[in-house]
Amino acid sequence: MKPILPLFAIAALSAGVSLLPRASAESSLGAPVLDDESELDQRMLSIKAQVRTLRRSLRDAEKNPDSLAALHALQAAALEAKLMTPRTAAAVPEGERAAFVQAYRKDMVIFLEGALATERHVLEGDLEAAGEAFKALRALEDPGHERYTEDG
Ligand code: HEM
Repeated sequence: MKPILPLFAIAALSAGVSLLPRASAESSLGAPVLDDESELDQRMLSIKAQVRTLRRSLRDAEKNPDSLAALHALQAAALEAKLMTPRTAAAVPEGERAAFVQAYRKDMVIFLEGALATERHVLEGDLEAAGEAFKALRALEDPGHERYTEDG
């Protein structure tokens, strides 16, 4: 007798049908999405991962290709994050909400400017200036979170 199930399985798989239930959804960035994670959280987690790379790579000119790739990914995530609305906006009185979201967007512009300045210094071969710009960029995290997140 022919092995019916394996044949079915092969046919299903070659048609692109998974026989296993999906363990979790995936974000556009390829990471698993937790239920309480917002689209903005996902961009922030991407920024965090790039910051981790840059902390090491910016110290070594041989790692400039890694730094430039990380800066590009960080900027792409920040550019998307800029157009999103922090969850905390929902608790801001309606009359003040537009100004709150506008202030958030302006702060994300400043954040992006810092990332672009860091990139420019790397391209100019000035890692000391890149390190300073990166330090200023990282210093925006705490005030940004104090103003726009629940935990502060
Ligand atoms: C180096 C800079 C930054 C890093 C590494 C960073 C990292 C993070 C992380 C890890 C989270 C939580 C993600 C989660 O738990 O799933 C988060 C959330 C958040 N961050 Fe940042 N962040 C940075 C800068 C900023 C700046 C400058 C702002 C605002 C101008 C900002 C606004 C927010 C907001 C609003 C959330 C909550 C997301 C939501 O409301 O849906 N972050 N960030």
